[in-house]
Amino acid sequence: MKILVVGTGAREHAICQALHKEADLYSLMSNLNPGIARISQFKIGSEMDIQGVKKHALNLKVDMVVIGPEAPLEHGIVDILHEVGIPCVGPTQEAARIETDKAFMRNLFVKHKVPGSIAYGAFDNVEDAGEFIDDFGKDVVVKPVGLTGGKGVKIVGEHLKNSADAKSYVKEIIDNKIGGHASVVIEERLVGEEFTVQALVDGDNLVPMPAVQDHPHAFEGDQGPITGGMGSYSEKNGLLPFLEQKDYDASVQIMEKTVKAVKKEVGPYNGVLYGQFMLCRDGPRLVEYNARFGDPEAMNVLPILETSLLELFQGVIDGNIKNANFKHEATVCKYLVPTGYPDSGSAGQPIRVDEEKIQAEGGMVFYAAVNEKNDEVLTTSSRALAVVTTANDLPDAEERCERATKYVHGDLYHRSDVGTRQLIDKRIQHMMEIKK
Ligand code: GLY
Repeated sequence: MKILVVGTGAREHAICQALHKEADLYSLMSNLNPGIARISQFKIGSEMDIQGVKKHALNLKVDMVVIGPEAPLEHGIVDILHEVGIPCVGPTQEAARIETDKAFMRNLFVKHKVPGSIAYGAFDNVEDAGEFIDDFGKDVVVKPVGLTGGKGVKIVGEHLKNSADAKSYVKEIIDNKIGGHASVVIEERLVGEEFTVQALVDGDNLVPMPAVQDHPHAFEGDQGPITGGMGSYSEKNGLLPFLEQKDYDASVQIMEKTVKAVKKEVGPYNGVLYGQFMLCRDGPRLVEYNARFGDPEAMNVLPILETSLLELFQGVIDGNIKNANFKHEATVCKYLVPTGYPDSGSAGQPIRVDEEKIQAEGGMVFYAAVNEKNDEVLTTSSRALAVVTTANDLPDAEERCERATKYVHGDLYHRSDVGTRQLIDKRIQHMMEIKK
């Protein structure tokens, strides 16, 4: 079977790694990612050149296209490939609105009575939004309605000092069409612990994967600016140290009801659904959806997947997905990023990776936003690569992962606290305080 994977980062490297032994694998990426390049027949091109992707897929006569990132989904890549009879793992433009249009997502929850909803308002004028903030009287979260690459969400108490700041940010979004639209969603600020559940969806049914916790803050101890994710971990029982089975099940139920609602509203959802949840005092609340695998979370779940990813993807397309088995192992993923990231990561710097030594620690390397030129791997300004380890328990996975990071050399930094007992105890304590 011929498969084309679209996308350039570590998430796509992890997808390709899970597929390459069972498929005739092709890739289309915007930079030369050395990890993807060595396991696929690659072409360099923009993921956003949708006509270019279509032409390439037709020339190759592929049986399936897997779309890694969200931006081409927003621009209807799946609809365009469907028009020429190419099946895709990824939702249509309308179904992808679950990620690309935050007002659509919140309104869907209310209209179809999906549990896990929160207080919110959607606005396209500054005055009404300001009135909502004043009347609400509690801390809010301000989100551009459209995609902002994870950088558009601002929270009162974290990035915004008070309601006046929140109103200024609303005006900035509307005046400058941040995220591509002159509209905002204002939500109640949730208090709890965040976690991710990813699932494969075949239009009706969901195959959920182990829960993962990502660490979006740049610096140790959850300090500093929000990034694309500095690392993540999962436990061998598929839950998290602060997440009980009933809360995981409630999250999956929210996702199942969402998929049914999307089908009624705009048609079936076929692809990967990423649910980001906040575990609050009274159970999980939906923070947001992504219409794709998470990055880094894909790197926690795919290395422990025992079922064939190719068969699962075929089930996503055919509407008959079967269950997936995962190894009962803990995982830790630590991202190494250029000095200065996320504000101004030092681009064009060489990186040297001793993959043999990393493998000796039981680790894997997934290359992200790097570019191979003249046999050198160079940084861009974004996340460079992730080291992932799997082990019988979390302390072992974390220690191996930390040791493995020492075999990556370059002008890079990482969070050594991801997956450590100290940080996890803080999470458990936080959750206990919330539930008191
Ligand atoms: N881990 C955040 C994301 O994938 O968007």
